[in-house]
Amino acid sequence: MPEIETARLRLRYFTLDDLDNLFRLYSDTEVMKYLSPRSREQTEASLRKHIQHWQAHNLGMWAVVHKQSGKMIGRCGLGFLDNTPEVELGYVLDKSYWNMGLGTEASIATLDYGFVTLKLERIVAIARPENIASRRVIEKVGMKYQKLAHYYGVDVVYYAISQSEWEMRE
Ligand SMILES: CC(C)(COP(=O)(O)OP(=O)(O)OC[C@H]1O[C@@H](n2cnc3c(N)ncnc32)[C@H](O)[C@@H]1OP(=O)(O)O)[C@@H](O)C(=O)NCCC(=O)NCCS
Repeated sequence: MPEIETARLRLRYFTLDDLDNLFRLYSDTEVMKYLSPRSREQTEASLRKHIQHWQAHNLGMWAVVHKQSGKMIGRCGLGFLDNTPEVELGYVLDKSYWNMGLGTEASIATLDYGFVTLKLERIVAIARPENIASRRVIEKVGMKYQKLAHYYGVDVVYYAISQSEWEMRE
């Protein structure tokens, strides 16, 4: 399982010791406004899935560590889009760290891993239409809007980028 370092972040694997940090994030109603806040039990189940997903599929969610403070401030990585074989980018960051470009920085590292290391052909991302910050990150990393769609039981905007588009981006 790879660990990745960017200018300001370390993307590392999750361990069960991350439960308190992840629960702080997943129980925050503002952070989880467009997802769903989770109980401690649900967070523990998610954490176990994050860990197992890597072993099963060679891709998954990293814990995002802010290098300067040493704090675990979120999660970012790849997963399968709602029971499809399509690979999607996903991220959640602690609200104290929003709007500093960190979501974009983590996403670029994630897409690079997907295209360069895994040699994926295409990566998608979805967001609730009203989730402006997430849409902005998706657009900043070069993904292109494709359609309105319905996944995980909700209406979403659906974006994608191919490996060749990733290689040709500025
Ligand atoms: C989505 C998320 C990870 C973005 O992280 P981030 O570190 O703030 O992202 P960045 O700083 O790289 O980019 C955010 C962009 O959104 C813009 N933005 C944020 N809120 C905005 C608003 N209300 N109106 C307009 N633009 C907004 C910022 O200005 C920035 O764009 P810019 O660089 O062009 O100025 C973070 O907001 C988050 O964790 N949200 C909650 C979880 C979530 O919704 N995850 C995605 C589910 S699809």
